[in-house]
Amino acid sequence: MDSIVVGLQWGDEGKGKVVQKLSRSHKWIVRFSGGPNAGHTVYHGNTKMVHHLLPSGTNENFLFISRGTLVDLETLNSEIKEISKIYPDIKERLFVSPYCRVITPIEKWQDGAIEKTKGKNSVGTTGRGIGPTVSNDANRVGIRLFDLFDQNHLKEKVDLLAEISNFGDQSIADELLSQFEKIKDRVLDPKVEGQILFEGTQGIMLDPMYGTYPYVTSTPTIPSFAFYGSGLKSEKYEVWGVFKAYTTRVGSGPFPTEIFGEAGDDLRKRGSEFGATTGRPRRCGWIDFPQLEYASNVSNVDHLVMTKSDVLNGLEKVGVCISYDKKIIPYDLGSLKPTIEYVKGWKNLESSEFADFISAIEHHVRRRIKYVSYGPSEEEIFQR
Ligand code: GDP
Ligand code: IMO
Ligand code: MG
Repeated sequence: MDSIVVGLQWGDEGKGKVVQKLSRSHKWIVRFSGGPNAGHTVYHGNTKMVHHLLPSGTNENFLFISRGTLVDLETLNSEIKEISKIYPDIKERLFVSPYCRVITPIEKWQDGAIEKTKGKNSVGTTGRGIGPTVSNDANRVGIRLFDLFDQNHLKEKVDLLAEISNFGDQSIADELLSQFEKIKDRVLDPKVEGQILFEGTQGIMLDPMYGTYPYVTSTPTIPSFAFYGSGLKSEKYEVWGVFKAYTTRVGSGPFPTEIFGEAGDDLRKRGSEFGATTGRPRRCGWIDFPQLEYASNVSNVDHLVMTKSDVLNGLEKVGVCISYDKKIIPYDLGSLKPTIEYVKGWKNLESSEFADFISAIEHHVRRRIKYVSYGPSEEEIFQR
């Protein structure tokens, strides 16, 4: 059976680690959305790698960066160089769709300029040029990988994009071409046969349509986009929804269960909650049942996977949001009042209090937690 793995919160749920675990029973690992804004942490043996663009598979997988993904060629090449030290044959197993949108220095500059103009209303983007690349593409002035096969054509396109964006620097096309040269032979849509794992990015609450707009990313994060974004089909698949035993968020936007002050700092320290892409401190809060139920329903999740359960070990009490004063509306999340209750903490994952915590989640979200992760490495996970 094929699989789709998505994050059920605001990203950084531990999708990379879960994808690595599930990758063992799949042949292909396919990215279908997001771009270098993603940071998926995977331990290959003792080596920690943060995957921004390369799917989180191992040497047993074929990897496909499909058309729904935004590509920054420099990031991709440096990631390939890095992971080649572990898997020397990585390039032979990698395919990048020619339809992928290319992030240029113009979009990165636009991203920063738009954020600056927004001032106190800024989204707190990763600065990777995601929003402008999507909007330039929608305006039909964006660069696609297939444009790079023809130098003169590319130069014309870059000139137009620079003119429309009031961007002066003229060396962009040459930079793009020199990066493209390193990866050119892998830019093709492969024939995909065998079991596929679609690796989602960000989280459902960051989806541009279903999340907390305008504090969202710019490419869809919901599982149904796996098919549109990749161009692949699946006869039979299951959706895995990954969430943390608490909640984090990077950047601006509503976060009803956020913990401020020392308690928030403590949770951040316990969970090492600093962004894998930008290093920014992540905002931390308690688990939010209505939010998780909403995200699971929107994504039609079959199985839940809980990560970072170990981080809460030893706390005297653990907060859980059990309800809101009104039905959950993502774009209006900031105006809803959460009811937070405190349950007794647990010493370790064998404690009965932890079993009660799991039962409460399953009851509220109305789905089974199939895996519980208790550490960053592939082995630190158990099936229920
Ligand atoms: P992703 O973007 O969803 O792949 O998640 P990130 O890699 O951005 O952030 C998750 C962080 O938690 C990474 O540093 C992982 O190594 C780490 N991690 C994943 N699962 C667990 C877990 O169960 N316990 C602990 N302590 N850390 C975990
Ligand atoms: P992974 O795949 C957490 C957040 C940014 C910002 C908003 C928009 O590692 O879970 P963007 O640069 O996409 O325009 O920023 O989305 N964001 C993420 N937060 N994890 C991510 O990816 C994220 N990708 C984007 O912090 O609030
Ligand atoms: Mg991440």
